[in-house]
Amino acid sequence: MANITLKVNGTTHALDIDPSTPLLYVLRNDLGLHGPRFGCGLGQCGACTVIVRGEAIRSCIRPVSTVQGADITTLEGLAQGGVLHPVQQAWIDEQVPQCGFCQNGQILTAKVLLDKNPNPTDAEIRQGMAGTLCRCMTYYRIQAAIKRAASAGRTARAESGRAKPGAEVIA
Ligand code: FES
Ligand code: FES
Repeated sequence: MANITLKVNGTTHALDIDPSTPLLYVLRNDLGLHGPRFGCGLGQCGACTVIVRGEAIRSCIRPVSTVQGADITTLEGLAQGGVLHPVQQAWIDEQVPQCGFCQNGQILTAKVLLDKNPNPTDAEIRQGMAGTLCRCMTYYRIQAAIKRAASAGRTARAESGRAKPGAEVIA
């Protein structure tokens, strides 16, 4: 056992656990965060994805000791101030999920993809999402949702570019 400090969704947790414990087990069993799912347990499906240092990683094969002190974001931490992240909203608008089991990994992987590439092509979306598996074959709706979120991001950037902080209206 060892003292491990984890920063998850902006909250710091001090834990006394085996440092080789997979991060997924700690998130689900010790912190009660059930967004990340146990799928294969082998790093091959993506259901357990979380974001660490801006990268989508597979928490089922990541010893908790390797992410000490890093910013960790789970699905629970994506919405801010009660407002869904644009990727989550796009998922709802496109009605992506079927059974839902894989969708934690799909949403977080898409979020990282768009953070790195706000205007991905279809090929770049397929490449970026490859390896995050969906047994219900929601891949076409996932692609549509990512394009919708990218479009929403372009609109938001354009609107913030038009805003002129401090500008005065002259009547
Ligand atoms: S449960 Fe982690 S990759 Fe499948
Ligand atoms: S929605 Fe069922 S596995 Fe993806």
